[in-house]
Amino acid sequence: MRVAIVPGSFDPITSGHLDIIRRAAIVFDKVVVGVSKKIPKNTLFSADERKAMVEKALTGMNNVDVEIFDSLLVEFARRHDAHAVVRGLRAVSDFEHEFQMAQLNRELDSKIETMFVMASPKYAYLSSSAVKEIAEYSGSVKGLVPDVVETALAAKFPSMKGGR
Ligand code: PNS
Repeated sequence: MRVAIVPGSFDPITSGHLDIIRRAAIVFDKVVVGVSKKIPKNTLFSADERKAMVEKALTGMNNVDVEIFDSLLVEFARRHDAHAVVRGLRAVSDFEHEFQMAQLNRELDSKIETMFVMASPKYAYLSSSAVKEIAEYSGSVKGLVPDVVETALAAKFPSMKGGR
């Protein structure tokens, strides 16, 4: 059984994240989406809210589980007997940070491989921070995020527009 971890802040999950998770779930027998509890920046949504939105967005995907983690990523991966950590890569600008994380994680546990999935072109410029900014300034995020996130953002930013 080949298990992969797809870790992230998911504040909130976007259509780009969803695409990466779906594609990882085709290649691996099982995928565990790890929602990081502690992240350096302030989050808009709590860890429980972020997890609930990921779960709702992944409804019907039978080989994917969602869990909050509050540990080193390699430790979380070991707990699930995972062979790989899967991360999405959007543009060259992602590379340096991802390269550093992958090398550090390899240093911490050489048995866990980091693998990269290239973002689909239509999501290459999409990020959780951009989505939050659009919502905050009353723009529409339709199509950029799963429906459950659109609803949650509209609750946080009541002036957000419904359609595009
Ligand atoms: O969605 P993000 O913010 O790019 O995800 C970053 C995340 C959660 C994958 C990263 O911060 C992480 O792995 N945190 C767990 C703590 C850890 O293992 N740190 C050392 C490796 S850099």
